[in-house]
Amino acid sequence: MRRFADRARSPPPQSFATDEDVMTSRTDSKSPGTSVVELDDDSRNAVSAAIESAAALPGALLPILHGIQDALGFVPPAAVPMVAGALNLSRAEVHGVISFYHHFRSTPPGRHVLGLCRAEACQAMGARALEAHVRRRLGIGFNETTADGAVTLEAVYCLGNCACAPSALLDGEVRGRISIEMIDRLIDSCGKQP
Ligand code: FES
Repeated sequence: MRRFADRARSPPPQSFATDEDVMTSRTDSKSPGTSVVELDDDSRNAVSAAIESAAALPGALLPILHGIQDALGFVPPAAVPMVAGALNLSRAEVHGVISFYHHFRSTPPGRHVLGLCRAEACQAMGARALEAHVRRRLGIGFNETTADGAVTLEAVYCLGNCACAPSALLDGEVRGRISIEMIDRLIDSCGKQP
């Protein structure tokens, strides 16, 4: 699914915060913070399934996190200790990877997820103006969700659709040659009226 954003980034830093840092940080929206909401049974089972399906793979952490987000729409902070325990990592190491990659969310997304490509080819074809229009229209910035829960806006970095720039990703589907009128129609289709 939406794994494009990962490609444009370097590997995560080798030095991670300590577990104590993770549990006390309040400034990072992806931080587990001090009040971690317990997983319900279905979510716990989904996390366990993602762990079981990928734990034996080399570099299992990323496939597991992708599996959790594909199943639940985000990586709940309460999943971090489960993943850490399964891979014999610290919670800080798992949290460090979640924080590093834009792709991973620590809070549930809106009913629709709209990604706008901010990479070079799309920028050259008017993505900045498109981005400004969408932010104005939705009244939110990147990694935010409209108050009615209809749309989460995310930045993505090259969808492999440069020939049809500017590009967007709506609920995992790549759209190309996006104009202001087209993005307005896409937003309307999400149930978000002007
Ligand atoms: S730069 Fe936007 S799709 Fe490649």
